[in-house]
Amino acid sequence: MSYNIKILEDFEQYLNDNLPKIEGFHPHFEKALQEILIAGGKRFRPMLLLNVVDVCAPLLIKNSHPVALGLEMLHTYSLIHDDLPAMDDADLRRGHVTLHVTYDEVTAILAGDALNTDAFYKISNAPLSADIRIELVKILAKNGGSEGMVIGQEIDCEFEDKILSQDELEFLHLNKTAKLIAASLLMGATISELDDTNKKAIYNLGLNLGLLFQIQDDIIDATQSVEEAGKPTHNDEHKNSFVNLLGLEGAIEYKKKALKALHVDLKKLDKNLADRLDTIVKGYFNG
Ligand code: IPE
Ligand code: IPE
Ligand code: MG
Ligand code: MG
Ligand code: MG
Repeated sequence: MSYNIKILEDFEQYLNDNLPKIEGFHPHFEKALQEILIAGGKRFRPMLLLNVVDVCAPLLIKNSHPVALGLEMLHTYSLIHDDLPAMDDADLRRGHVTLHVTYDEVTAILAGDALNTDAFYKISNAPLSADIRIELVKILAKNGGSEGMVIGQEIDCEFEDKILSQDELEFLHLNKTAKLIAASLLMGATISELDDTNKKAIYNLGLNLGLLFQIQDDIIDATQSVEEAGKPTHNDEHKNSFVNLLGLEGAIEYKKKALKALHVDLKKLDKNLADRLDTIVKGYFNG
């Protein structure tokens, strides 16, 4: 992946220095929380946030680290719960055995709950103005909760083996994945105090980027090995994935169209910001 390596390395360092610490005598809860966070992952969402700040308000990069970590914690909670037997029943995540398999379901459920709640604590303590912190909490809550990721996950599971229309498919994936990705960009724009027009433009671009991200994820499920993906693949059999609804060729076509739409969106942004996001898109989607 070709985003700014220094931004990624600094974020990884911050994450490693600020892993959750659990007081008390529980034998493995702290280890469970830490191991899934350090297991890796692309850090796509924190990188979106931090790259916006790096271009638009570079002096605030360090102050943004707790916010980027909070965002990654919320995303990581969504993955822990997504892998539970009641949802996708996956035994591997980020190349590591999932928490409910290593420990038990209770630990996995509560590790997810902890990361979800602690994410907001982290953001609300960031060294940024109170107004901005409130705005960041609102953005993450709105896009990650019942108006975003959570309703997407609920529809994803409720409609297993029930075919959705193309509009419903888009609604599912906009909520499940795209809103959190759009929120990542909007949080960077909020820290950088971009004006409302630019914030709206970057959020809308983020929705298209998020759809693209999920199409790619569905193509990964259909085409990659477990080793390449670091998670079980060929696991979407019962899902309303883009590949299941459109076929592999159809999903690849849809991806091309989404990439074109994204390039139109990029033109609406300031050139430096558009160039940086374009680099990220190229690195991740070969487009
Ligand atoms: C996986 O997200 C879940 C989806 C929304 C498709 P990522 O592909 O960002 O997972 P990590 O963080 O890199 O492990
Ligand atoms: C999960 O989508 C999206 C989340 C909100 C966690 P998937 O179920 O397709 O994600 P993977 O393929 O398990 O990473
Ligand atoms: Mg899922
Ligand atoms: Mg899954
Ligand atoms: Mg998937």
